[in-house]
Amino acid sequence: MNVHDSEKMAGILKAEGYTETAYTEEADLIIFNTCSIRQKAEQKFRSELGRIKLLKIKNPLLKIAVAGCIAQQKGRDILKRNPQVDYVFGPQNVHKLSSMLTADTMVCIEDNPEIQHTDIPAERKDNVKAWVSIMYGCNNFCSYCIVPYTRGREKSRPSENIYKEIHELSENGFKEVTLLGQNVNSYDSDTNFAGLLRKINAITGIERIRFVTSHPRDLSDELILCIKELPKICGHIHLPLQSGSSRILKLMNRGYTYEDYLEKVGKLKECVPDIAITTDIIAGFPSETDNDHSLTIEALKRIEFDGIFAFKFSPRPGTKAAEMDDKISEKIKSLRLYEILGYQDDITLRKNKELEGSLQEVLVEGVSKTNNGKITGRTRTNKIINLEGDAALVGRLINVEIRKALRHSLEGRLTNQA
Ligand code: 5AD
Ligand code: SF4
Repeated sequence: MNVHDSEKMAGILKAEGYTETAYTEEADLIIFNTCSIRQKAEQKFRSELGRIKLLKIKNPLLKIAVAGCIAQQKGRDILKRNPQVDYVFGPQNVHKLSSMLTADTMVCIEDNPEIQHTDIPAERKDNVKAWVSIMYGCNNFCSYCIVPYTRGREKSRPSENIYKEIHELSENGFKEVTLLGQNVNSYDSDTNFAGLLRKINAITGIERIRFVTSHPRDLSDELILCIKELPKICGHIHLPLQSGSSRILKLMNRGYTYEDYLEKVGKLKECVPDIAITTDIIAGFPSETDNDHSLTIEALKRIEFDGIFAFKFSPRPGTKAAEMDDKISEKIKSLRLYEILGYQDDITLRKNKELEGSLQEVLVEGVSKTNNGKITGRTRTNKIINLEGDAALVGRLINVEIRKALRHSLEGRLTNQA
């Protein structure tokens, strides 16, 4: 989400005549697009902000802006505490960037009730695949999560605006779109998410459609059917489980039990047999017992995700979970995280090994950064694959035989059915 917000900022700046510098030292404007999902992301920003102070002494014309979720939360306080900062704007006020640059200093953190109608042309580096926002904000208030406080309530872009943007992308040669929202399954504008997918599936030139993130509670049968029936929707879903313990899920305010989740996964696998499922897990939520933790491990073994993102619980000031008793020590959180990642590593490798010898459709995304004769792409199930091939294949769909499975990527060989 933040990467795509940065693309929008770049789009605005390009229209204003700005160009990107190769070195930070040459810049007249530096924007920190910050994230506050976990404390680690905040710490990274703080040390960078300190580092950049000296640049202002060398270049008195330099302007520094803080954007994103930390900007939204801290607002004017950032200006007070960091005299080197000139502008502060939250994720709902990206569209104000150009007018902001004409002011001396400015803070923009008000709600933007019209965000779904505020289209901003994004400046994308890639020319094969693109992120496209379909909705903003989140209404879920999972008890650990800061997003509903920083990105505001859910608002869906009209399907016509999304259609136009993707149609234009197809005319510019893009082959894949990833639809973005905190909870895409609750997309609700002139049509629902399934309706939107049908509309996008009809755009000539676009070969692949992906979307993130799905909320298990809102994953409807209609959507599962769409994944099965619409040929361009890729067989991969990111479906954050967070915990295998229904007691913890309740405390997290996720709105489903572990059994509900299993039922949805069962339906997905039944309807779309080759589907890849990935997930997010939080280790050490307040009051999580050894037993709760082992239920998460059990879930990993039973569901056999294709990949996971796992995090130690990080208390975010202002959220309910930050106020909960029975916090878990850093040491236990680390041990649990380590165990989760260890189990999953074996599963990921085993699942990748199952693909050895198979034929996969691959969209070539680029040439290898380390080896000129190699190209890189992804299977429909979102697995990264490297193979020998010509740069002319970038942007093309090819058939690849999987020769070797590694944990985080596959190695393949172009077959003559390309
Ligand atoms: N602590 C740890 N992980 C978090 N996530 C969100 N908030 C927190 C938090 N406070 C994780 C969730 C979510 C992913 C994007 O980040 O797993 O799905
Ligand atoms: Fe955060 Fe939950 Fe919304 Fe995801 S669904 S952004 S975890 S509140």
